[in-house]
Amino acid sequence: MDEKIIKELKEILGSDELFFEKEDLKPFSYDATERTYYPEIAVMPTKTEQVAGILKIANREKIPVTPQGGRTGLSGGALPIKGGIALSLLRMNRIIEIDLNNLIAIVEPGLNPVELQQEVNKVGLFYPPDPSSQVECTIGGNVAENAGYTRAVRYGVTKDWILGLEAVLPTGEIIHTGRKLYKDVAGYDLTHLIVGSEGTLAVVTKIILKLLPKPEENKTITVIFDDVDLCADMVVTIFQNKIIPTAIEFMDNVTISSINRYLGVNLPEDAKAFILIELDGTKESVEVEKNKLINIIKKAMPREISIAKDDKEREKLWRIRRDALPALTAQYPGRVEADVVVPRYSLPSLVKKIREVERKHDIKIATYGHAGDGNLHVTFLINRKVLSDLEKAFSSMDDIFKATLSMGGSITGEHGVGITISRYIKWQFSDSEIELMKRIKKAFDPNHILNPGKIFYDIEEAYIL
Ligand code: LAC
Ligand code: ZN
Repeated sequence: MDEKIIKELKEILGSDELFFEKEDLKPFSYDATERTYYPEIAVMPTKTEQVAGILKIANREKIPVTPQGGRTGLSGGALPIKGGIALSLLRMNRIIEIDLNNLIAIVEPGLNPVELQQEVNKVGLFYPPDPSSQVECTIGGNVAENAGYTRAVRYGVTKDWILGLEAVLPTGEIIHTGRKLYKDVAGYDLTHLIVGSEGTLAVVTKIILKLLPKPEENKTITVIFDDVDLCADMVVTIFQNKIIPTAIEFMDNVTISSINRYLGVNLPEDAKAFILIELDGTKESVEVEKNKLINIIKKAMPREISIAKDDKEREKLWRIRRDALPALTAQYPGRVEADVVVPRYSLPSLVKKIREVERKHDIKIATYGHAGDGNLHVTFLINRKVLSDLEKAFSSMDDIFKATLSMGGSITGEHGVGITISRYIKWQFSDSEIELMKRIKKAFDPNHILNPGKIFYDIEEAYIL
């Protein structure tokens, strides 16, 4: 990068907020997709004005800028695939306000969701989003990807908790969208255009979040099945009975055995499915729901049903579920995943399709995820460096995506398009829909500097599986 530009950036940032030596750039070069792209320079601003200054320079000089949070993304949203500037928001990590009158928090994007949870819990409040990567991810990253999480069945996804944003446009202007309001229909809803835009429209610098009173009671039920179809049918039956639990999570046999190895736990190795159901509410409501659920579960002919006896056991069970991805990654480092979502009613068809694809392409697949949302992480256990493996994974993914779309589903429920599945974007949207999205991108980012190469399948880098 030009010395003159580095000097200008140094005038905006402190000397410990800018990095350009190769070894210093390593932490900005990868994410959870396990792909590596080095930026030319990395910056860690602490103030919105610095972000604005950086973007003004980048826009003038047409330098690519890739915003980053905890880099736990699974579609490559935080990868600086075009080099340029990696803009890490990790140091903008303050809780600005917990407003006890309005039950709202204002936070900076680099804040970790567990830290927010701990702080709001102290005052009897609760922030529902709890992504599996909660220990490392950031709320800004959750906003950029519109992250899902286990409690989404009852509480919706990240966007449902965002009332407003402060953000910096790629051209350097600071904007404010939304306010501390639960109702506000003035103008276009820019907040929810930016949420889930995968860091391509603006850099979020403040987030206004809704909070809830902390539920009085939680209960975790686990169910073991010898048959994955019976398990998927049970999930549908729960909703048909008009019960909406807080979470219904699923792990298949391959995931179960990886977890056993990774955490040294003893889930039944021969089980075909492991289900975790969470309930929350008042003591009375949880008791009523639990009894109704147990009746439904029993009829589904599981091998075993149990209820966690205390919070320690509940936490252990949730850790097991949250560690599904790290467990699979540890055992199968070349993995590639699809994050498909179908209407809940189609979950049994999706589960059948996955098995069919496994047989057809002779490929090993691990499936886990948010059964209650119809959202499964279909993980192809291949070695990405072996061409024949990669081809198998491509063909399998093609079949899974085709089936998902034919069921009225989507190519991604919560991980985003990024670069890993951008070649499928045209499968889901018409030319006019994609053109409209590109026009929106252009209106925000006329010089195409912010997170270029993501979502739309129009650059060479996007061919990477
Ligand atoms: C999970 C992440 C990978 O559900 O989305 O664990
Ligand atoms: Zn997930």
